[in-house]
Amino acid sequence: MRTTRPDLATPAARSAFRRALLAWYRRSRRILPWRATCDPYAVWVSEIMLQQTRVETVVPYYERFLAVFPDVYRLAAADEQHVLERWAGLGYYRRARLLHRAARQIVAERDGVLPSRAADWQALPGIGRYTAGAIASITTGEVVPAVDGNVQRVLARLLRITAPVNHPATEARLWDHAAALVAPRTPGDFNQALMELGARVCTPRGPHCGDCPVRRWCAATISGVSDALPVKTGRTRVRPVRAAAAAIRGRAGLLLVQRPAEGLLAGLWTLPTVELADGADAVTMLSAGLATQLGCCVPVSGAVGVVTHQFTHRHLTLEVYAARWPVGGRLARARVPARWVDPAAPDGPLATVDRKILALVCAQESLTTTTERVV
Ligand code: ADE
Repeated sequence: MRTTRPDLATPAARSAFRRALLAWYRRSRRILPWRATCDPYAVWVSEIMLQQTRVETVVPYYERFLAVFPDVYRLAAADEQHVLERWAGLGYYRRARLLHRAARQIVAERDGVLPSRAADWQALPGIGRYTAGAIASITTGEVVPAVDGNVQRVLARLLRITAPVNHPATEARLWDHAAALVAPRTPGDFNQALMELGARVCTPRGPHCGDCPVRRWCAATISGVSDALPVKTGRTRVRPVRAAAAAIRGRAGLLLVQRPAEGLLAGLWTLPTVELADGADAVTMLSAGLATQLGCCVPVSGAVGVVTHQFTHRHLTLEVYAARWPVGGRLARARVPARWVDPAAPDGPLATVDRKILALVCAQESLTTTTERVV
């Protein structure tokens, strides 16, 4: 087995590597809506949506979002709830809030003129070195690298880096390698080609090394260790969380409350919910929580069902209980923002987990109604 490191250290080798990668990219890249524009606003929106999210998931959200907020002025003028509504389902809602905040900053401080350099992009809320590099290289051809998780993996294999890629010193090394490799004349295509290679060929498990256009420079392929790289340490454990929620019915529909402005799914709407301590009785804790949140006693009755949902660092098991709004109860006494919605067609921004909960409530209610009719 050959284990010598293929030499990407010379300018000639780097040029040959770029040529092979770019030729592959131009031949086989996916047609994506943000690749058909050089509008920096549209590219910015796409890069924010693509953080932690797969291309196929992003495409319909991107198109709908741009139809409603076609430029930075329209986005800056919108209210946050409207922006969150258009983002609902895409997850990581903090991205939407920071995108909106950055749009307001651009309008207020730069007369709506978007930055052209990575350093200025990076000064805006929600934009780190990776996103700044991606936007600036794609929109203005600034010769800067963009190292996201996909690119980290590609480079760790290419250079056979066995140190954990999530250590700051290794991260810095990867950025230096990426900066040395980026194509000086087509940095945007080059950066997207590395991302595309990571997403489609140099995949986390079972990389398709036989189809790789740059395998002859890949130290991991040559040594047969692609599958073992990259190395990551100390991954955050997923914490199981148990909670209970009340599907409170009143004359005007189903009651939703707004989550706090900070924390998981901040600002989005959900059923009144309490987190359950280990071994706690769900109905007792839920009844107490409802009294605190809503300022009145809401009787909880039977179980509606259970919804599970996987967040990045939590696995939620949510028990849903039916409840009836008390006659004479006043929503004005609630200590959290609360409103009635039609559960089959709720307005306002709802996260995927809350759509699952409402689907469960609707399914249960239609079952009950059908059974009542049959009986
Ligand atoms: N992931 C992040 N940015 C991307 C882009 N421009 N194209 C494809 N995948 C990406």
